[in-house]
Amino acid sequence: MATAHEKVEKNLGLLIIFTLLVVSIGGLVEIVPLFFMQSTTQPVEGLKPYSALQLAGRDIYVREGCYVCHSQMIRPFRAETERYGHYSVAGEFVYDRPFQWGSKRTGPDLQRVGGRYSDDWHYAHLRNPRDVVPESVMPGYPWLLENHIDGKEVQHKMQVLKNWFGHPYTDEEISKAPEEVDGKLEIQAVIAYLQNLGTAIKTVR
Ligand code: HEC
Repeated sequence: MATAHEKVEKNLGLLIIFTLLVVSIGGLVEIVPLFFMQSTTQPVEGLKPYSALQLAGRDIYVREGCYVCHSQMIRPFRAETERYGHYSVAGEFVYDRPFQWGSKRTGPDLQRVGGRYSDDWHYAHLRNPRDVVPESVMPGYPWLLENHIDGKEVQHKMQVLKNWFGHPYTDEEISKAPEEVDGKLEIQAVIAYLQNLGTAIKTVR
């Protein structure tokens, strides 16, 4: 006489149904509590949504594929925190859509690069990294010094982030967005973005 277990093991249809059932229960148990945990859904104290200029810079960061070589997630290990600063926490990324965590590090992690270098350093570095780091394999991005930012587009993005995702922009911030970025160069936006990275959490380095 075949036991119930044998029947399930030998019947492909039943096996698939029970496997799916078990896997989905396991998945739900892991995922559902995260939606209710404050530490994963609430912004850390002092975190502000990206300003118009920073937001434009963030989109250029994504467009240029900076994430292909740079992660933005410091793991809670001593080797990481001594090099980069405080490990990353979920509440720092609530205004990142999508987040730029990554796991590929051809270059260093950038999560806490904000304030580490001067604007001038970034300017020279982004134009041609080898001018400031002779052994660098990072490509130069000279076109960032020529392209201008479209203020209307940034304004529209802020409005969408507010309406659809609840980012706390005030009407004034949104109406002033074009004024804030118009005429600015793409490189200024990228630098504004980089200088803000990871600064909501104060780190001693
Ligand atoms: C092909 C890989 C690659 C790409 C793509 C890349 N980088 Fe880098 N990046 C590096 C490497 C390697 C370094 C370390 C050497 C140096 O400082 O140039 C670095 C260093 C940096 C640093 C200094 C970090 C520190 O703590 O010293 C910053 C800031 C930076 N990159 C920003 C960017 C931005 C912004 C972009 C996109 C516009 C970008 N990188 C694209 C490889 C890359």
